[in-house]
Amino acid sequence: MTIGSEEPGAEALASPRTIAVGDVYDVVIGRGVLGSGAPGSGAPGSGTPGRGTPGSGAIARLVGEGARRVLLVHAPGVAGLAGPVRDQLAAQGLDVVVEQVPDAEEAKTAAVAERLWQVLGEHDFTRSDAVVALGGGATTDLGGFVAATWLRGVRVVQVPTTLLGMVDAAVGGKTGINTAAGKNLVGSFHEPAGVLIDLDTLRTLPRPDLLAGMAEVVKCGFIADPRILELLEADPAAATDLDGPVLPELVERAVAVKAKVVAADLKESSLREILNYGHTFAHAIEQVEGYTWRHGDAVAVGMVYVAELARSAGLVDDALVARHREVLGALGLPTTYAPSAGRGFDDLLAAMRRDKKTRGALLRFVALDGGVGRTTRLEGPSEQQLRGAYDAVRG
Ligand SMILES: NC(=O)c1ccc[n+]([C@@H]2O[C@H](COP(=O)([O-])OP(=O)(O)OC[C@H]3O[C@@H](n4cnc5c(N)ncnc54)[C@H](O)[C@@H]3O)[C@@H](O)[C@H]2O)c1
Repeated sequence: MTIGSEEPGAEALASPRTIAVGDVYDVVIGRGVLGSGAPGSGAPGSGTPGRGTPGSGAIARLVGEGARRVLLVHAPGVAGLAGPVRDQLAAQGLDVVVEQVPDAEEAKTAAVAERLWQVLGEHDFTRSDAVVALGGGATTDLGGFVAATWLRGVRVVQVPTTLLGMVDAAVGGKTGINTAAGKNLVGSFHEPAGVLIDLDTLRTLPRPDLLAGMAEVVKCGFIADPRILELLEADPAAATDLDGPVLPELVERAVAVKAKVVAADLKESSLREILNYGHTFAHAIEQVEGYTWRHGDAVAVGMVYVAELARSAGLVDDALVARHREVLGALGLPTTYAPSAGRGFDDLLAAMRRDKKTRGALLRFVALDGGVGRTTRLEGPSEQQLRGAYDAVRG
């Protein structure tokens, strides 16, 4: 499988950029766009202005002409942004209800969703009203899920404030919550009305979270866009410089990869599977370590693991495996995994067998086939190969 990568302009993000997800919605990326009337935030793919006059708030345009009420759901880490966003929406004549939700995964519960449904009911939210989710992937997953389920679906505007949220969680329409049975098992596909990425919101994000999000950017490089890898290799420090031109271009390119994949495959069948590069082993690490690992860190190791697996299957050469370690290592991402006491290969193997990409007893991995941007499905590797790749990443 290959998907082409278009060339975002060299002048990346001198002004906000708009990436269309098919003809369904737009992702607007820029600095300071939360406080502005960013372009391209009207009708999907058209750049046509919606609500208000030029210069009016970008989010207000996205909630739609018909909305009278907005539920603004935000993470505690971005409480400082909620006030200005509320004011911006109120200035457009909208009734805004602000709800802070618990931090991170604590937000993705049935109890929190139920509380939000109750709020929507108390304020008489109708089919034409909207939800705005402001925060990391946990908040956008929850906000999207509540929007998907209220009256069988109201508009949601996703405003991701973590790098992972920007390049992954907020784009693609997957929403959900966790249950006792596992992570993300209850959810819905619900495309947003739009996604607004303000890179300035990353200024308060702790560096380990910024780096963890970068693992998904690297993933987009390996599966689809070699230019991402070239940018990272040329100057790894520039990748996380919030004031420089490289980070915006990386975000734009990673969003473009995800947008292209999900637009071609809105309901997750075969093509969308390539976004799971590195994720089979990553999910196993997360499970075995009781979710104490950052997702992005686990994905970084997972990509090295599957590169090792692909090498043993004759799909990639030594240089491509080394490139994984070099790119990720230069960013400061982990490329090895030291299991905690009492854990080991057998636990990881059991976790991988439970992974949702497994069909029957056969383990399936997304792997590279011959080079960057060429993916394939690696099915049923032997236990010897699986263990060999584990030995190669064991720290
Ligand atoms: N729907 C999808 O397609 C998809 C894809 C990938 C991941 N996800 C989900 O995303 C979640 C992980 O998202 P995440 O990595 O963004 O973590 P997160 O949402 O848990 O946020 C991480 C932490 O950063 C804080 N935070 C957020 N923005 C901040 C900012 N700008 N400044 C300071 N603090 C800030 C949050 O409050 C939280 O404490 C998981 O629940 C995962 O399942 C969903």
